[in-house]
Amino acid sequence: MEKLRLFITRERIAAKVSELGRRISEDFPGEPVILIGVLKGASIFLADLARQITVDATFDFISVSSYGNLMQHSGEVRLIKDVDQSLEDRNIILVEDIVDTGLTVNYLTNLLSARHPRRLKIATLLDKSCRRMVTVSIDYVGFAIPDQFVVGYGMDVAEHYRNLSDIFVLEPSFTAM
Ligand code: IMP
Repeated sequence: MEKLRLFITRERIAAKVSELGRRISEDFPGEPVILIGVLKGASIFLADLARQITVDATFDFISVSSYGNLMQHSGEVRLIKDVDQSLEDRNIILVEDIVDTGLTVNYLTNLLSARHPRRLKIATLLDKSCRRMVTVSIDYVGFAIPDQFVVGYGMDVAEHYRNLSDIFVLEPSFTAM
């Protein structure tokens, strides 16, 4: 059995998303942006972030899978679903729920920058930088968090808890023998 501990409330998330939306709007004055959400975890963050951006913003989605289990990343990332359009000369914001080892963002940055976008920026709601295996440069970070497994607001464990409005730490609860 696992236990959920409230970690980041919906009010704090909303305030942070609004701040990130404002910063993105200021960085692209009068220019259209394409928000590329990494499925499925970033979907809720993208939906909220998009509504805080005041410049023209369209959506696309990309999906990858990483081999390994919850705690151990194999280092291998595979593309499951590509974006639906050309990115040449477009302003791209890659939207992630959480950057952990950095392998996914590193893979996607290489993939997307090869398409010659005008500008490519990375936004993540959460940053678990203590777990990094590769160096990645992130432009918009919501919250820096310690090495804890979190769920809610799009993030899951075995597909569960994505629909929670707040972010929780997943704590294993041990029963004494
Ligand atoms: P990375 O390639 O190790 O940076 O992994 C990024 C992906 O791992 C995220 O987009 C999430 O899908 C998943 N992930 C990493 N840490 C967590 C967590 O604490 N909760 C839920 N998903 C996580």
